[in-house]
Amino acid sequence: MDFKEVLDKERATRKFTDQRVSEKVIREILTDAQRSPSLLNSQPWRVYVAMGKAVKNIRADFKELIEKGEQPREDFAALMKVEWDTFPSQNMSTMSDTLNYFLRGEMTQFDEAQVNLFNAPVLVFLTIPKKSPAWSVYDLGTFSQTLMLSAVDHGLCTMPAHAIVKFPDVIRKYMDIPDDEAIGMGIGLGYKDKRASINGYRSKRVPLDKIVKFAKE
Ligand SMILES: Cc1cc2nc3c(=O)[nH]c(=O)nc-3n(C[C@H](O)[C@H](O)[C@H](O)COP(=O)(O)O)c2cc1C
Repeated sequence: MDFKEVLDKERATRKFTDQRVSEKVIREILTDAQRSPSLLNSQPWRVYVAMGKAVKNIRADFKELIEKGEQPREDFAALMKVEWDTFPSQNMSTMSDTLNYFLRGEMTQFDEAQVNLFNAPVLVFLTIPKKSPAWSVYDLGTFSQTLMLSAVDHGLCTMPAHAIVKFPDVIRKYMDIPDDEAIGMGIGLGYKDKRASINGYRSKRVPLDKIVKFAKE
């Protein structure tokens, strides 16, 4: 696929169909993701892939905890300060306003998508050692992006979401993840449900000049 086409198609998919994804394709995507750069080639990432029954179990347990009103307890929140500066805060509130407008105020679609873990048939959990410098968080980001671009190139859709990692204890119940690793990010993979209106939402970006400054002398 042409690079611009891949980039254009790499959008959050908030509702997947039940169609299964082959393990062979997932392995190809992860092999591509391993090409990502990392500080001194440290490759701090580890990958745990939930499919089939494992996904169903995780989804059911998450749902139960959410319905009980349990608060998220992401591993990264325990490791890092989660305070947002004004610029990203404003961008997040724009995203929420435009999505609300697109859904004509029916934000329940968005909320249900989170609770159902987007109905993703595959959940990829990405970890780094708990004992990591900030560089490894950066490296995990590069790994995620290569993974998602490759997934799109393989005809899949992607959903990166902190909603997928909000209860690390549940994930650990079904996936063999050592305690000294932080479950940093979750990415749903699968095929887009084209009938779901929430998948029609297209996010925008701030104008380039808001984020870039050139110095020429
Ligand atoms: C670290 C990270 C966490 C995210 N968490 C969620 C999430 O929990 N729920 C959700 O609906 N979207 C989540 N997203 C998706 C973003 O909202 C989305 O990438 C952004 O609005 C830009 O839209 P686009 O990916 O469709 O271009 C997350 C994205 C990233 C990179």
